[in-house]
Amino acid sequence: MRLQGKTALITGAARGIGLEFARAYVAEGAQVAIADIAIDAARKAANSIGPQAHAIALDVTRQDSIDAAFAEAVTRMGHLDILINNAALFSAAPIAEITRADYERLFAVNVAGTLFCLQAAARHMIPRGQGTIINMASQAGRRGEGLVAVYCATKAAVISLTQSAGLDLIRHGINVNAIAPGVVDGEHWDGVDAFFARYEGKAPGQKKREVGAAVPFGRMGTAADLTGMAVFLATDEAKYIVAQCFGVDGGNWMA
Ligand SMILES: NC(=O)c1ccc[n+]([C@@H]2O[C@H](COP(=O)([O-])OP(=O)(O)OC[C@H]3O[C@@H](n4cnc5c(N)ncnc54)[C@H](O)[C@@H]3O)[C@@H](O)[C@H]2O)c1
Repeated sequence: MRLQGKTALITGAARGIGLEFARAYVAEGAQVAIADIAIDAARKAANSIGPQAHAIALDVTRQDSIDAAFAEAVTRMGHLDILINNAALFSAAPIAEITRADYERLFAVNVAGTLFCLQAAARHMIPRGQGTIINMASQAGRRGEGLVAVYCATKAAVISLTQSAGLDLIRHGINVNAIAPGVVDGEHWDGVDAFFARYEGKAPGQKKREVGAAVPFGRMGTAADLTGMAVFLATDEAKYIVAQCFGVDGGNWMA
């Protein structure tokens, strides 16, 4: 019970990695707000976890929605110790086919969403003099990929925001760090696979098999592979860790 009595808001936690984080946090004794634009899925997820989980409607691209969601989380859980900025969108296209609409959609969720949720959490945490903020970056933020320019750029921005916010907020006792997964199986990667099927002429599922086989660990990651780092960063043992981005990727980025 390493997070006994703590409260967390996890954006985009109705499915995938965020949902696994919510389960792990509750198992460690925390209360969790599952904050997602897909509110029906968020309710289902919260019900499947139990009374320690609260479904909250949140669209990270809208300031009024961010303000309302953080206020609701504080009302329902009493205060907020931890934010995980997890909601994100993915897209892929060759440079010549990138659209401005797609660029704006991804930056609105992945970058502005991360920044303004981080700000909302910080405004609550600063008077309390403590807090943990974890941003979900990606190996994609550490280097470019031919077909993935926009998503990679958003995740590079998440790493940069983690560094700046980490340096600013530690004087208030708030630790900001990031996790950079590699390739994690789930609905998100089903979508990625479909993009590569389209642009590289691969059969459905082929890209997934290829990337899994190329991971030094020997397989794609699972959401459960990431929970250890997400829990650790929220404990007092991680208090001296500031503005870092941790790869949890089976060695994928290093390779
Ligand atoms: N799956 C991977 O291979 C992988 C690899 C590296 C990094 N990541 C990162 O990890 C995080 C979680 O990934 P995942 O695979 O679980 O993704 P996912 O697509 O399965 O889940 C994303 C969630 O975000 C929600 N969401 C989308 N737009 C939103 C908005 N405007 N407001 C609020 N919620 C919104 C969706 O409803 C969904 O529940 C993301 O930041 C992703 O970029 C994933």
